Amino acid sequence: MTQPQSISVTKPMHEDLPEEKFNELEAFIDGMETTKGALIEILHKAQQIFGFLPRDVQLYVARKLGIPGAEVFGVVSFYSYFTTKPRGKHTISVCMGTACFVRGADKILERLKEKLGIESNEITEDGLFTIKDVRCVGACGLAPVVMVDEKVFGRVKEEDLDDIINSYKKG
Ligand code: FES
Repeated sequence: MTQPQSISVTKPMHEDLPEEKFNELEAFIDGMETTKGALIEILHKAQQIFGFLPRDVQLYVARKLGIPGAEVFGVVSFYSYFTTKPRGKHTISVCMGTACFVRGADKILERLKEKLGIESNEITEDGLFTIKDVRCVGACGLAPVVMVDEKVFGRVKEEDLDDIINSYKKG
């Protein structure tokens, strides 16, 4: 197996994108046995490091791997897991799959937006929450389902939302 060449690429920088983070990503990529077919893995790592995948980070990955920016943009926009905008500390995902929808997920989502004063994919002013509407998360028996980060809340009613929100405000 051929070692990938360590390509030095200029790192764009601004407040949210400090050089240490690019260095961490660079070390990860340089440490890979091969970068062939590893774009998704690299983007996962990049999102883990930066919290999101702004254009500058996507371009950096493209240059580093010697592939067209369009290829990276295509992958990032295809997978809903990837986000190009910063997220709040906690992501509240409201399942809008069929089972959840028929049990009132749309009302839960609307109520949540009202309570937090944001739309989907936005961040609350305190930086604590982002709301996402997602497709079936595979827990249909518990519909309607709301997830906060990785934690699943089942059979959620509108009245439960305050308790859920407050538990993350405290902790
Ligand atoms: S539709 Fe919501 S978990 Fe399946």
